[in-house]
Amino acid sequence: MNVNEDVKKFNIWSGTYEDSWLQYLYFDRIHKGVLNLVDGVSAPVDLLDVGCGTGRLLRKIRERWPYAQLIGIDPAEGMVKKARQMMPDSTFMVSSAESIPLPDTSLDLVFSTTSFHHWSDQLQGIREIRRVLRPGGQFFLADIAPLPFFLRFVHRGQGQLRNQNEVRNMFEQAGLEVQAQRRLFIGHILVTSGIRR
Ligand SMILES: C[S@@+](CC[C@H](N)C(=O)[O-])C[C@H]1O[C@@H](n2cnc3c(N)ncnc32)[C@H](O)[C@@H]1O
Repeated sequence: MNVNEDVKKFNIWSGTYEDSWLQYLYFDRIHKGVLNLVDGVSAPVDLLDVGCGTGRLLRKIRERWPYAQLIGIDPAEGMVKKARQMMPDSTFMVSSAESIPLPDTSLDLVFSTTSFHHWSDQLQGIREIRRVLRPGGQFFLADIAPLPFFLRFVHRGQGQLRNQNEVRNMFEQAGLEVQAQRRLFIGHILVTSGIRR
């Protein structure tokens, strides 16, 4: 697979990612905020985290749904290696959102947190997620989406930061019905949830 500059940085960061102060102050809070928004789902069987990093969100998901089959994909090999060490009974693959190595209609829930702005083809990634979801399956996407005034000051990854309307349009173009769009962290993080009908 073609490893872009963003992914190279994440490979380097993977060695110390778990120890970063950002985990407690930032990523963990986003994970908890997203999981709090998931309602009406009692016992999902198959779940995927796209851009899973070291699998920290999946570890929280396991506490909530201990019997679910958990899968994580990430193009950074270092991240996947760490995730496998920490969750040897789950499945982790080196892969990107744009090409998910799973069969059609095989998942109940898909998550992705603070990864979307690194995807080189965001619409293709959402299309892939729609493809692997079962009818009735849901996708929760959390990413940096500052209010328009602040967008100019924020780092952009390989892909792009998207505003609320752009994310909504991409979900619809990909065939996902948007259920809700909510903000966490004083508006800094946008969580969009969509369902495959
Ligand atoms: C800031 S980290 C977030 C990791 C994890 N989701 C979390 O919340 O801690 C962003 C992750 O997105 C991954 N990534 C970059 N490009 C990607 C792509 N095209 N598809 C999926 N993941 C990607 C990176 O390798 C990195 O692990």
